[in-house]
Amino acid sequence: MLADQRPSAEGGDEGGDEARRSASALGIPVAPAALAASLVVAVPGTSGDWLVSPDGRNLEHMTTTLITGANKGLGFETARQLSAAGHTVYVGSRDAERGRRAAERLGVRWVPLDITDDASVEAAAKTIEADGGLDILVNNAGVEERTPDMSVLGPSEITVDIMRKTFETNVFGLVRVTNAFLPLLGRSAAPVVVNVSSGLGSLTQTAAYPYPGVAYPASKAAVNMITVQYAKAFPNMRINAVDPGFTATDLNGRAGTQTVEEGAEIIVRMAQVGADGPTGGYFAASGPVAW
Ligand SMILES: NC(=O)c1ccc[n+]([C@@H]2O[C@H](COP(=O)([O-])OP(=O)(O)OC[C@H]3O[C@@H](n4cnc5c(N)ncnc54)[C@H](OP(=O)(O)O)[C@@H]3O)[C@@H](O)[C@H]2O)c1
Repeated sequence: MLADQRPSAEGGDEGGDEARRSASALGIPVAPAALAASLVVAVPGTSGDWLVSPDGRNLEHMTTTLITGANKGLGFETARQLSAAGHTVYVGSRDAERGRRAAERLGVRWVPLDITDDASVEAAAKTIEADGGLDILVNNAGVEERTPDMSVLGPSEITVDIMRKTFETNVFGLVRVTNAFLPLLGRSAAPVVVNVSSGLGSLTQTAAYPYPGVAYPASKAAVNMITVQYAKAFPNMRINAVDPGFTATDLNGRAGTQTVEEGAEIIVRMAQVGADGPTGGYFAASGPVAW
């Protein structure tokens, strides 16, 4: 080898006035009637806040999150942190044993998910839809093809097959998963997508950086463009790309200089972005990244 449910945002306001009066009598802060419809549900990740739906239910802890490729590395750590923040988390994993074990360790759910396989992705979407839907999708699964001694493949070594294999997961897989879950995300009042890109997807940064690889950075640059175009098409969703930074995982033979806790921080932060937060952006822990 080379290297939850939330009521519909579209729902009417039947019972809303009554719910607001009841909530007010209980001392629960409520929005003015004109604003209530747009404040129907939780801002993802704000567990602990008082969140009252038009039918008066407290929607605390009702954010459901799927992380692809979460059986190890940054995905596993993201699942751990979002579960600790109160999310209902699905670990997506293409391998049953690795997926079940990871979910057991975290006390979260597991869903079989090979992002390169239409049937697998469709089945995962059906399972999560039947369980109540999805608020946050973290497109984390990714590959970087390297030589057995973990050397990066530059222009002299790259092949069309390796380019295709890399794009099959990092680009086409991400699009396949996003498209399959868009109908579910569309039913969430505060949908969020986090695309795990890389600093190597930045044309600005990589042009000035002595990393010779072709397939991986090209795939992440494509992820960045896909992020911008989906964010434009779905303005009610927060869709951002993130760069976790160079993190010690199997992807790079554990050569990364950050821990997974450090690397996952920006993924977790952007997964919890508020409905008034940025969309169509590209962020690292230190702030926006130049495209
Ligand atoms: N580590 C870094 O320095 C770094 C820096 C910037 C960006 N990133 C990005 O961060 C993300 C996570 O990488 P990582 O460093 O945590 O690598 P990792 O430890 O190798 O984890 C990659 C995960 O993706 C999964 N995966 C690969 N192909 C898949 C497929 N077809 N379907 C479903 N899952 C699949 C792997 O599953 P298996 O266990 O079954 O292989 C694994 O769970 C990637 O998108 C990567 O490009 C990493």
